[in-house]
Amino acid sequence: MEVISGAEVMLFDPKPKRRREDLFDFDNELNSLARFVNDPSTRLIVVRGLRRTGKTSLTLTALNGLTTPYVFIDVREFVRSRRGLYELLSRALSEFLRAYDGLGLIVREFRRALMSVRGVRIEGFGVSISWGRDRPLISELLRELDRVAGRSGVRLPLVIDEAQRLGGPLGLEFWNAIAHAYDFLDNLVLIITGSEMGVLEKVLGDPESPMYGRAFVEVSTRKLTWAESREFLSRGFSELGIKVPEDELTQAVNLLDGVVGWLTYYGYERAVGGRDVKSIVNEAIKLARQELENFLSTRVSTRYRAILKMLAAGIKEWGDIKRGLEQREGRTISDRVIHEALTALKQHSIIDENLNLTDPILRMAAETL
Ligand SMILES: Nc1ncnc2c1ncn2[C@@H]1O[C@H](COP(=O)(O)OP(=O)(O)OP(=O)(O)O)[C@@H](O)[C@H]1O
Ligand SMILES: [Mg+2]
Repeated sequence: MEVISGAEVMLFDPKPKRRREDLFDFDNELNSLARFVNDPSTRLIVVRGLRRTGKTSLTLTALNGLTTPYVFIDVREFVRSRRGLYELLSRALSEFLRAYDGLGLIVREFRRALMSVRGVRIEGFGVSISWGRDRPLISELLRELDRVAGRSGVRLPLVIDEAQRLGGPLGLEFWNAIAHAYDFLDNLVLIITGSEMGVLEKVLGDPESPMYGRAFVEVSTRKLTWAESREFLSRGFSELGIKVPEDELTQAVNLLDGVVGWLTYYGYERAVGGRDVKSIVNEAIKLARQELENFLSTRVSTRYRAILKMLAAGIKEWGDIKRGLEQREGRTISDRVIHEALTALKQHSIIDENLNLTDPILRMAAETL
């Protein structure tokens, strides 16, 4: 086994990957993404895939492979206020100026252009955009970015990571600006990422959404095959010079079902924390459970909880689900209620089309609800 001594954590680094050498596989996906970004006829790219399958890593790595700059809007949480939305943009633009400081001229141009927009202040790399009365329209900001990109002869990718979290009235304001960019700002190329169904349905597939009906190309992340997962773990441990028994690797691969994020989590915790598979898997289940709880906190939670528990136990017949709920709630439940619940679970990529929980960790988490 090859041993890289004194190495930093690479393949198992829990942060989203940004460098080709830290990204396992995904050559095809990386190439198509790069090709789309460079193709002047592409206006909108959707990067989709289940949770933790490497959407952010794929996007960042593809864009970092270009020599030109990009703007990355990281929608970490649901945006609930205008202040939240403008802070998100301030953060993205600050990052943008900081990351491309070395590019010199182009970035100075961007900086000057942004500074000329009312309500925008720039100190050092810190961009602060007013969300008050003197706030700029999002489309004004985008127009400036587009103008400088055009003048500099570059196409500027604008990434909206986890786009489905931008909903509600503020989402509408945001997506209106993005739809306008799609239609008129030819020097911007839009990249939106998100969980499988959510993005497509909320942002692109809903007739009420400003983005409705816009053409797009897509790149999907996927689960690793058994052999790839095995290879991922071997390579990761070998980078760190750690030997892990074969049967433990097999056990981990079986449990983690090709989800690269879970494999990374396991590799990292095993290598750095020295813990065993079982305790790592339990930790992962707790994380997944917390995510389910977050989802439940925005719903009629007892009903969803009951449905999730049934699905986790393999109860998938509508009739059975219905009876289960009726028994629990002591009243008749309409088909519509069940349909709505299952649709919401699908949209959040918690279950797939066949009503299976989308990965085993998630399923075990649902069992504990
Ligand atoms: N191809 C890869 N090679 C190595 N590690 C990867 C790869 N893809 C993802 N990872 C790791 O897996 C974890 C999840 O990756 P990432 O955040 O990119 O996925 P995601 O699909 O954007 O997840 P989320 O659904 O949480 O937004 C991270 O720890 C990341 O470092
Ligand atoms: Mg992500």
